[in-house]
Amino acid sequence: MCGIIAYSGNRSATPILLNGLRKLEYRGYDSAGIAIHSDNTIHIYKQEGKVENLVQSLGNYEEDPTHEAGHVGIAHTRWATHGPPTTANAHPHGAGQDGVNRIALVHNGIIENYRDLKLKLEGEGCVFLSDTDSEVLSFLIDSHYKDDLAKAVSAALKEVQGTFGIACLAKAEPHKMVVARRGSPIVIGLGEDETIVASDASAIISHTRQVIYLDDNDVAIIEGGKVDIRTLDARPVKRETSDIDWSEDAAEKGGYDHYMLKEIYEQPTAIRNSIRGRVDLDKGTAVLAGLGLEPREIVDIQRLLIIGCGTSMNAGLVGEYATEDFAGMLSEVEQAAEFRYRNPIVGSKDMVVAISQSGETADTLAAVREAQEKGALVAGLVNVVGSTIARETGRGIYLHAGPEISVASTKAFTCQVSVLLMIALKFARSRRLSREAGIQIAKEIHRLPELVEEVLKQNDHIAKIAEDFTNYTSMFYIGRGYLFPVALEGALKIKEISYIHAEAYHAAELKHGPIALLEESMPVVALLNEGPGKEKTLGNVEECRARKSPVLGVITEGDEDAKANCDWYIEVPKSPQYTATITSTVALQLFSYHVARLKGCPIDQPRNLAKSVTVE
Ligand code: M6R
Repeated sequence: MCGIIAYSGNRSATPILLNGLRKLEYRGYDSAGIAIHSDNTIHIYKQEGKVENLVQSLGNYEEDPTHEAGHVGIAHTRWATHGPPTTANAHPHGAGQDGVNRIALVHNGIIENYRDLKLKLEGEGCVFLSDTDSEVLSFLIDSHYKDDLAKAVSAALKEVQGTFGIACLAKAEPHKMVVARRGSPIVIGLGEDETIVASDASAIISHTRQVIYLDDNDVAIIEGGKVDIRTLDARPVKRETSDIDWSEDAAEKGGYDHYMLKEIYEQPTAIRNSIRGRVDLDKGTAVLAGLGLEPREIVDIQRLLIIGCGTSMNAGLVGEYATEDFAGMLSEVEQAAEFRYRNPIVGSKDMVVAISQSGETADTLAAVREAQEKGALVAGLVNVVGSTIARETGRGIYLHAGPEISVASTKAFTCQVSVLLMIALKFARSRRLSREAGIQIAKEIHRLPELVEEVLKQNDHIAKIAEDFTNYTSMFYIGRGYLFPVALEGALKIKEISYIHAEAYHAAELKHGPIALLEESMPVVALLNEGPGKEKTLGNVEECRARKSPVLGVITEGDEDAKANCDWYIEVPKSPQYTATITSTVALQLFSYHVARLKGCPIDQPRNLAKSVTVE
């Protein structure tokens, strides 16, 4: 999704902004631009396509006096929402008269009432050069501008409906930049006599680890190292300074061809970090202080409602099954956008767990607010520390998976499932589960990192299988019980990065319609790990093969029966199905990765996708 980087200090802004844009590339974008304040002029440069196009268009900027003297600037990577990905629609957007920019703005989010505002501003003589809602905001700020950028920004933002993270400059205030947010993250990095602002910390960490996360409706006025935060009504507010707890290396490729592969390989460590200090092998329970719940309070909870989108929702489904299985407790998972737009039946006896890697997904955030409004206890299961969902829920569990850069989520899923298994275990132990049974589950969770290491050893074998799949255009994934979410996640991954159409079905559902599509050109991936339902899924596999569909099985190590029924197979270590959700998903992540690699797809930045979906 769109990215923002902005700088104010005593160094030349341009190289800092361009490097920041490179760090934001992973979010997905289609054009890029920068604006710098130099010689009492706001200079705007933008280009369609990659950041490198922009860099090329700037020529020898390092020796250009305009760039050397520009110590304040804003920059942006745009992911098109309003209007196609053209240079005119790229940010920054200037506003002024006769080609002179009095204001320049970069914006993440969506201005919902931009049409009305545009009509009004056109009536006042403004001439728009783009199709974007963001340019309207730039002109709106200009229309309020007298001699104080912060005042103009606040006045404009009061008229705006929608979401924004913005950074802007005013021609008449050469040392200042103003940033603000509502629903779209803004992180302020505090350096020595300088400040670097970004929409996510990965663009800041090479400069400083000390950051402030703005709250909704905060407006920050920044000049060099001075940061003054106010509300929209100009009331001064204090926001906590926190430290980024991961290193710059964690956000680099580290010798791997793609971030996705690196993140797949990081999973043993990521899971270890997720479960560290949280699995109590003696008492057979989980220690989850972040939930802020006494055992007595847990008993009072009647239902665990899990919300999320995409991969996070798929992980949630494993959580639902585990909560019912371990704790005998009512649990449901729901797509966050569906939850927010129904009139959901939820209240004080429900605990809502909002799952989000980024902690910024607009639909999940809105669902959190809806659940809070209805009096439910809401906890976040989030990876990005300090993100909006983490802060607004105020209670929850961080994944500690480290930064996930690839658009296709991998380590976040396996850490989410690990944490959900611990939540289910905790709830179960506060209810009916015996200590002995709890210890058994705790031990299984505890050995997950080693199990995943075993799966990663299959990489070459999986890469070989992938060679046979590059020409297929459509696939089915089937699984039962715990393995159905794995089928969903497997199908999501292959379509995201290799652009092969894939559908996931409950194995039993196949014969209720989809079976009509089975033929030689429609391979089926079957989740066949030992445990409940395996024999029945094997029966479905036979149905598939009888219709000439070739079958790739993900099977338990040494299961000869399963091997004999599959055209290809990937073995994962023997484990209960609730942890096989993780090992089998890792196998399918590698499978998707290799198919996409062999097809020459842009794995880390698939077309049309964004890392963090901050619009509805
Ligand atoms: O940051 P979140 O976990 O809230 O993101 C939710 C989905 O947008 C995300 O999981 C998406 O489906 C991924 N691209 C899947 O790989």
